[in-house]
Amino acid sequence: MQLAGKTIVLTGGTDGIGRELALQLQAKGAQLILTGRTASRVAEMQALGFEVITADLSQQGGVDAVVAALAGRSIDVLINNAGAGSDHDFREAKPDLSDNDRCIFLNLNAPIHLITHMMNTLRARPEAMIVNVTSGLAIAPRAGGPVYCATKAALRSYTQAIRAQLAGTQVHVLEALPPVVETKLTAGRGSRKMAPAECARQIVQGMERNALEANVGMVKLLQAVNSLSPALARKIMIRF
Ligand SMILES: NC(=O)c1ccc[n+]([C@@H]2O[C@H](COP(=O)([O-])OP(=O)(O)OC[C@H]3O[C@@H](n4cnc5c(N)ncnc54)[C@H](OP(=O)(O)O)[C@@H]3O)[C@@H](O)[C@H]2O)c1
Repeated sequence: MQLAGKTIVLTGGTDGIGRELALQLQAKGAQLILTGRTASRVAEMQALGFEVITADLSQQGGVDAVVAALAGRSIDVLINNAGAGSDHDFREAKPDLSDNDRCIFLNLNAPIHLITHMMNTLRARPEAMIVNVTSGLAIAPRAGGPVYCATKAALRSYTQAIRAQLAGTQVHVLEALPPVVETKLTAGRGSRKMAPAECARQIVQGMERNALEANVGMVKLLQAVNSLSPALARKIMIRF
């Protein structure tokens, strides 16, 4: 895809990987409409010249606010990047089901709702793209994040199915699978984390190449292991 001149809606564009995607896509000449939640980070991106819609996408009202704000706008690209974890361990305590539900809505329902609301708009554009940010954990889960991993595996499955539906149309569907990246999502967890700017660079490259998947960093290796032995991939990942 030629990114210059495209209008891109990017959820979770105020921090982490999304913030870096916003900066890099803007540098390529795209017009960005970000969504964000925390007021200070929304204000920071507005000060950098970005249009930002404030919305909590872990609930229906937030999705509705984004859809209303975008009504009548021509959108070429939707990047479903906003996401959060909901770690728990049954050996230690019962999970907080409200927290689990917010995670499921944010990571899975919100992308499905936004894609559904924006499909006609995207299909009306000469060249359009949906980018769903899943995770290496969509391929094989880690024990500490059962709900998070389930949402990412589900979003991966959804992405593959709608890609088949949209084959032959001008709407390209890209799945981006980051490895462990140094953001607030992974604070206090993991080592040898990738910098968010490098992760964003590889996702942008996937967009420019019209790739089906942007397997970022170590996820390329995970995909190779998984293609040879899914059982081995699961054994490696479950410990993280
Ligand atoms: N970091 C990793 O290692 C890693 C690995 C694989 C996949 N991913 C995926 O990559 C994506 C970006 O993650 P990240 O690491 O960059 O996370 P991050 O640094 O925590 O940033 C997440 C972005 O999403 C927004 N967001 C979070 N909860 C929200 C909510 N309830 N409503 C609306 N916006 C919300 C955040 O806004 P606020 O600043 O207001 O919270 C922020 O802009 C996620 O889908 C994540 O699952 C990350």
